[in-house]
Amino acid sequence: MVIAPLLLSCLILLLLFTFLSRRTRSKREPPLDKGLIPWLGHALDFGKDAAKFLTRMKEKHGDIFTVRVAGRYVTVLLDPHSYDDVLHNSTSLDFSRYAQVLMERIFHLRLPHYNPAAERAAMQHHFNRDNLTRLNITMYRSLQALLASDAPPNRMDWKQDGLFNFSYSLLFRSGYLTLFGRRCDSSGGPTDIYNSFRTFDGFLTKMARTTLKPEEKREAELVRKHLWSLLSPAQPGEGAAPSPWLQGYLKHLKEEGADEDTQTRALLLQLWATQGNVGPAAFWLLGFLLTNPEAMAAVREEFSGILVASDLPEDQVLERLQHTPVFNSTLSETLRLTGAPFITREVLASTTLRMADGQEYDLRQGDRVCLFPFLSPQMDPEIHHEPEKFKFDRFLNADGTEKRDFSKGGRRLKYYTMPWGAGSNACVGRHFAISAIKQFLFLVLTHLDLELCNPDAVIPAIDASRYGFGMLQPDGDVLIRYKLRHPL
Ligand code: HEM
Ligand SMILES: *[C@@H]1O[C@H](CO)[C@@H](O)[C@H](O)[C@H]1NC(C)=O
Ligand SMILES: *[C@@H]1O[C@H](CO)[C@@H](O)[C@H](O)[C@H]1NC(C)=O
Ligand SMILES: *[C@@H]1O[C@H](CO)[C@@H](O)[C@H](O)[C@H]1NC(C)=O
Ligand SMILES: *[C@@H]1O[C@H](CO)[C@@H](O)[C@H](O)[C@H]1NC(C)=O
Ligand SMILES: *[C@@H]1O[C@H](CO)[C@@H](O)[C@H](O)[C@H]1NC(C)=O
Repeated sequence: MVIAPLLLSCLILLLLFTFLSRRTRSKREPPLDKGLIPWLGHALDFGKDAAKFLTRMKEKHGDIFTVRVAGRYVTVLLDPHSYDDVLHNSTSLDFSRYAQVLMERIFHLRLPHYNPAAERAAMQHHFNRDNLTRLNITMYRSLQALLASDAPPNRMDWKQDGLFNFSYSLLFRSGYLTLFGRRCDSSGGPTDIYNSFRTFDGFLTKMARTTLKPEEKREAELVRKHLWSLLSPAQPGEGAAPSPWLQGYLKHLKEEGADEDTQTRALLLQLWATQGNVGPAAFWLLGFLLTNPEAMAAVREEFSGILVASDLPEDQVLERLQHTPVFNSTLSETLRLTGAPFITREVLASTTLRMADGQEYDLRQGDRVCLFPFLSPQMDPEIHHEPEKFKFDRFLNADGTEKRDFSKGGRRLKYYTMPWGAGSNACVGRHFAISAIKQFLFLVLTHLDLELCNPDAVIPAIDASRYGFGMLQPDGDVLIRYKLRHPL
């Protein structure tokens, strides 16, 4: 007798469920693909390997389609000619809401008066002109000092490390010292922060998707708390004062009414935004060079003019490092292959998207729109010939100038590679990032003998779970060994 009401309520639930998920496509909307699993839809495939999943959807539906992902409907747009309307339509397409969801999930951060435009404005002038030049020099000194202290003191001895760990740790620690300006040399300092950050970073995608297992959740919470304790603005940093960037950011937070706890959480967010991508980018760059002798020779050749005069003062070395078209192209090519952010917007009010080919599609309020430039333009064979191949001179003209002329469907493209995002929330630190990676590569190539431990080793494959989160990371590492060639 007790079974009947139970069955009945199950039936009602099921009916309710089918009713709630009974969304159908109207004629003016993009093709709808809900997937087979109720509510979850395509969440599992999406999380496992977004590039593979979205490639399959593109083959099935074309350049625009709507998929169900964990209860949400996401319209994916893959035609780079049509990106601009999404990027520049802040009246109906909002970027900050989804950003706030992620902030809360990953950093447990809720800013009292979050205003992305004000934050961006406060951030931008630190990475401009004179201020950038100063940051460049601080960064160069930090890189030099850390390389000198990491390398074996005896110039005959080799030291082993993973290439990913080597690149990430060097750039992370120098970047941290440059922007956060604390030089606690005792008890770990930047190395402690780096190691904890790597653990935290390992949970990042699962935190964003809320798919941590209970024990992972506990571990993530512990390391998050540890990082908070290291970053707390209340904790006096030994040695150097906070950089102007950090001072300015903290002032901005206080003006917004953020208490000390919130400030600390915001600092972890900034640590991730400023240090989470440069190291992985440097890894791929050096990895591609170590396995492409022709590219390595071209970059070495370009740097060789500066090498002769390596006893120059820092500002003059940096001055001479300004004009490096071969390096620029090599870096652009690296980022084309390994920079894979999602650009996500929330539909605030139902609206119409006009594609470059004139087609119009209705977008529903409450859905999300997602661009994935990694698939197109970056890996689009119509735009980049043999897109899976690393070609260091892909972004060079025959006369050695920067190549900007790429097209699709017979029309020249405004966006032919987008590792920095675009529009109102494109990366504000990109020039600093480029500069840091250039300095890293210059110092490594001129001051170290660095080689793969196994000359036939290959660069590890991409960790497919990280598509959508900025720079990709390798699935594993590859051993290198290095020793000092010139004293630093
Ligand atoms: C290779 C290195 C880097 C890559 C590929 C990269 C990429 C990106 C991307 C794709 C975004 C947009 C995120 C979004 O859509 O929400 C972004 C935002 C941002 N990046 Fe970078 N970034 C790098 C390095 C840096 C560095 C070195 C800094 C600062 C020192 C920095 C500071 C920022 C900040 C503050 C934002 C947020 C901008 C805003 O809120 O409008 N990035 N970055
Ligand atoms: C450099 O940063 C300071 C704040 O530290 C700011 O007042 C100044 O306007 C910035 N300079 C430039 C050229 O943006
Ligand atoms: C340093 O900063 C300047 C901005 O003044 C920038 O143009 C330059 O490319 C940066 N990089 C290096 C390595 O000097
Ligand atoms: C990775 O780098 C850090 C910082 O340089 C170092 O302490 C650690 O030993 C390295 N880990 C491995 C596995 O080589
Ligand atoms: C290389 O990149 C830097 C930083 O974005 C830029 O300022 C410079 O103009 C580029 N140089 C060439 C030769 O493309
Ligand atoms: C963008 O904004 C305009 C109004 O300014 C609107 O007509 C258009 O449909 C909006 N939506 C999209 C997705 O472009």
